[in-house]
Amino acid sequence: MSSKVKSVILHSTSKSELNIYLLTMIRYKIIIFLYGLIGVSGNTVSPAVAGLDSALTILKDNDLYAQYTTRTSDGILVEAEKPFLVAHKACESLGESLWNPEIESFSAGLNNSLLYQKYLGKFSAGQQFWVGSAGNTCQAIDFKGRFQTLDCHRKLPAICTQSAPLSNLSFVDTSPRFHITKAMGDQTLTGYRDINSWRFFGIRFSAAPQRFGYSSVYSGKGHAMAIDEPARCLQNLNSEAVGSEDCLFLNLWTPYLPGKRITKKDLKPVMFWLYGGGNVVGTISDPGADCGNFVARGDVVCVGINYRLGNFGWLAADNTTITGNYALSDMVTGLKWVQKYIKYFGGDPARVTIMGESAGAAGVRALLASKTAKGLFHAAIMESQPVGYIPHRWYAEYRTIAEHTSAFGVLEAVNCTSASDKVACLRATDASTLTLLPADKVANYPVIDNKFLESNGLQVTGKGFINSVPTMIGATRDESAIALGPLPRFTNLTESLALISSLLTQDITAAANSPAFSLPPGDLAEAVFNATVRVATDGTIKCLGLATAYSAAKHKTLPSIYAFEFNRTYSPPNYTSSLCSPPITPEFPLGDANQEYYKCHAGEVILVFGTVLRLGLPDRDGLDIPFSQAVIDHWASFMWRYDPNPNPAYLKARGYFNTLNQISLSGKWETVKPKRPELRVLQWDSLSIPFSEGPQCAALGYPLNYYEAYL
Ligand SMILES: *[C@@H]1O[C@H](CO)[C@@H](O)[C@H](O)[C@H]1NC(C)=O
Ligand SMILES: *[C@@H]1O[C@H](CO)[C@@H](O)[C@H](O)[C@H]1NC(C)=O
Ligand SMILES: *[C@@H]1O[C@H](CO)[C@@H](O)[C@H](O)[C@H]1NC(C)=O
Ligand SMILES: *[C@@H]1O[C@H](CO)[C@@H](O)[C@H](O)[C@H]1NC(C)=O
Ligand SMILES: *[C@@H]1O[C@H](CO)[C@@H](O)[C@H](O)[C@H]1NC(C)=O
Ligand SMILES: *[C@@H]1O[C@H](CO)[C@@H](O)[C@H](O)[C@H]1NC(C)=O
Ligand SMILES: *[C@@H]1O[C@H](CO)[C@@H](O)[C@H](O)[C@H]1NC(C)=O
Ligand SMILES: *[C@@H]1O[C@H](CO)[C@@H](O)[C@H](O)[C@H]1NC(C)=O
Repeated sequence: MSSKVKSVILHSTSKSELNIYLLTMIRYKIIIFLYGLIGVSGNTVSPAVAGLDSALTILKDNDLYAQYTTRTSDGILVEAEKPFLVAHKACESLGESLWNPEIESFSAGLNNSLLYQKYLGKFSAGQQFWVGSAGNTCQAIDFKGRFQTLDCHRKLPAICTQSAPLSNLSFVDTSPRFHITKAMGDQTLTGYRDINSWRFFGIRFSAAPQRFGYSSVYSGKGHAMAIDEPARCLQNLNSEAVGSEDCLFLNLWTPYLPGKRITKKDLKPVMFWLYGGGNVVGTISDPGADCGNFVARGDVVCVGINYRLGNFGWLAADNTTITGNYALSDMVTGLKWVQKYIKYFGGDPARVTIMGESAGAAGVRALLASKTAKGLFHAAIMESQPVGYIPHRWYAEYRTIAEHTSAFGVLEAVNCTSASDKVACLRATDASTLTLLPADKVANYPVIDNKFLESNGLQVTGKGFINSVPTMIGATRDESAIALGPLPRFTNLTESLALISSLLTQDITAAANSPAFSLPPGDLAEAVFNATVRVATDGTIKCLGLATAYSAAKHKTLPSIYAFEFNRTYSPPNYTSSLCSPPITPEFPLGDANQEYYKCHAGEVILVFGTVLRLGLPDRDGLDIPFSQAVIDHWASFMWRYDPNPNPAYLKARGYFNTLNQISLSGKWETVKPKRPELRVLQWDSLSIPFSEGPQCAALGYPLNYYEAYL
C-alpha cells in the first residue's frame, strides 16, 4: 500500500507541487533529525523498535469477510500526541506512512474502528488525529471524518496506514517490514503483524521441562524471535511420534500494544485458550483456532498455550515420584506467565478468561477445581467438556493415583515394573516408545495428587474448594454423531446400544427401554441411529454439563453461569464427515444450514474463532459469517463484562449492526436460574429455551441434580 500511496502522490501532483512536496519532506527530515538528537534515548534504535514509545492500536473493522470485506480502510493508531513531523516519522518507523484520506475511504471501516476508540474512553469527542495529504499542509481528521489543516507543531495522535496483508491458511507475510520488537522484562521479542493483529508466536513460557517434572515460568533474557510456529508437544499422529518434549511455548495475538508507560485502564481482557484432542493430540498451531480475527473483532488479547500430552502430560505411577498432572502444571505455568508478562502486550492480568474445547474444556474444569490456579483467572468458558460415561468420566471425576496407575499399566508396557529406580527407567525410555504405546497405555486424565487436585471433582455444591468465577458452559447439539457415524447401523436400539456399551466399557443398553428414547416414526435405522447419538451425546457431555450449571447456580458456587447449545455448526475440515454437513439444495448448493443435519463435536470452533474464510471455506448459506460475528460478539462481551449479552452501545460504536439486530430478535441470554434453568440455542436466529434433555438425562442416571448426591 505504501508504494500505491507514492504512485498516487506522483500521479496526482504537478511538477511544481511535487517540488514543494519534496522540499517540505526535506524540511521534515531536518526537523525529524533534530528531534532524533534531542530524543531521550541515546541508543540506536532499530526501525522495528522506534515508535514504541507510544501505544499502538491496529484499526481494523473486522466483519470476518476476509478478502471479500467492504470494510477496507485500515490503519494503525499511534496514540501518543506528537507534532506532525514526529508523527510522520513514527509511521515510517512502522514501515508505513500517514493514513491518507485521498487514498482510502474513511467511511469504509476506519470510521467504525476509530469511533470505537472514543467509546473506549480514550479520546474526547473533539479529538483530531494527524493524517497525510499530498500537499505540504499538516492535516488532521476527527471522528466524523472531517479534515482540517492545523499548525504542524500541534501535538496529536496519528493514524498511519496499515499495509500488512491478510494472512490465511496458506499465506502469511512475515517479512521484516512488519516486524515489531517488544521489551518484556529482561527479554525482547520480535513478532510481526498481519492485517488484524500483532502476532508473537512460539514464546517460551517454561524452561524445557524435565520428563515427569512440573513446568515453571521462564524468565528469559536477551532477544528472541517470535515469528514461527513452535514445536507441538509430542503426540501420536498416524502412528508416528510427532513433536518434541521441549514444547512449552505459547502463541499470542493482540490488536493493541502499550507504550513504554503502561496504562492500566487501556489494557484488554485476555483469552487463555486450551485446545482439545483428548489430552493426547493437539497444538496451538491449529489454523482453525487462529485468534487473529477474534482479537480484532472482540478487542481482546489472546494467548494459546501448548501443554504436554499423553504420558508426558498425564502419567501417574505412584504417589511420591510420578504423580501426574504435569499438563495441569503447564496450564498453571501458562497462567502465571500471563500474570507476569501479558501487560507488555496490552493484556490485563486482572481479566483473564480461560477457555477450552473438549479436552481443553476439561483443562478449564480442572483449573476451576485447582487451588494452584487461584487468582490466576477471572472467568471460564467450557465448550463440549467431556463428562459422564467412561471414557469421558475420568476427565471430570478424578481418580486416585493408584486407580489411575493400574488403569493404564504404563510401567508394565515399557518393562519398568521391576526396575530399582522406576523414574529413571521411565526417563530412560525412548520418547517415541512412550508416545506410540497402544491407546489404552497412554495416560490422559487429571488425577487426585493433593497438589493440583484434592477431590474427585469440581465442587459445584460448595462442599470443597472451587475457583468461583463467571462461567459459560455448553455443547453442540449432536456431539457424538461424528464418532458414531462410521459404526454399523441397527434397527434395534438395544442392539445399537450394546455395541456402544462395549466401546464405553459400560452397559448403557437399559436406556433402550426408556420412553425418553422412544423411536419416532420413519426410517427405523435412522431413528435408532439418532437415538444412539442422543444417548451418547447426553451421556458423555450434555447431561452433566447441565447438572454442573444447575448445581453451581443452586449453591451460588459460581457467581454466574451461562449455558448454551450450538444448533448451527460448521465442522472443521480435518474433523468432519458427511453427517456433519447441511443438506445440499438447489437454492443452497453449499448446504442449507437451516435444515436438519448433525451438529457434530468441534463444530463450533471455527465459528467461535471466526476462521471460516481464513481456512478457505465458503459461507454456506450467507448466514455463517453473520452467525460467527454474533458468536464472537457474545464471547468477547463475556470476556469484557462477564456477561455474554453485548452492550448495544458497543455494537453501535463498532458498526456491528448484524449482531445488534440479532440480539434484539433473540432477547436476553439469562444466567442459569435453579428454579427455571434456561440455555441459549445458538443459531440464526438464536433463542433461549428451558434446559433440554431432562427425561433423557434422568433415564441415563445423570439427572439435573446429579451433583447434589454425588459430591
Ligand atoms: C461508517 O460509514 C458507513 C458507510 O457510510 C456507515 O454505514 C456506518 O454506519 C458508519 N459508521 C458509523 C459508526 O457511523
Ligand atoms: C502412597 O502409596 C502407598 C502404596 O500404594 C500407600 O501405602 C500410601 O498410603 C500412599 N500415600 C498417600 C499419601 O496416598
Ligand atoms: C518388554 O519386554 C518384552 C519381553 O522381554 C519385550 O518383548 C518388549 O519389547 C519390551 N517392551 C519394551 C517397550 O521395551
Ligand atoms: C431388540 O433386541 C433385543 C436384544 O436382542 C431383544 O430382546 C428385543 O426384543 C429387540 N427389540 C425389538 C423391538 O425387536
Ligand atoms: C435423524 O436426525 C437427523 C439430523 O438431525 C434428521 O435429519 C433426521 O430426520 C432424523 N431422523 C429420524 C428418523 O428421526
Ligand atoms: C489438517 O491436517 C493437516 C495435516 O495434519 C494439517 O497440515 C493442516 O494444517 C490441517 N488443516 C486444518 C484446517 O486444520
Ligand atoms: C435446530 O436447527 C434445526 C435446523 O438445522 C431446526 O430444524 C431446529 O428447529 C433447531 N432447533 C431449535 C430449538 O430451534
Ligand atoms: C490466501 O491468501 C493468498 C494471498 O492473498 C491468496 O492468494 C489465497 O487465495 C488465499 N487463500 C485462501 C484460502 O483464502
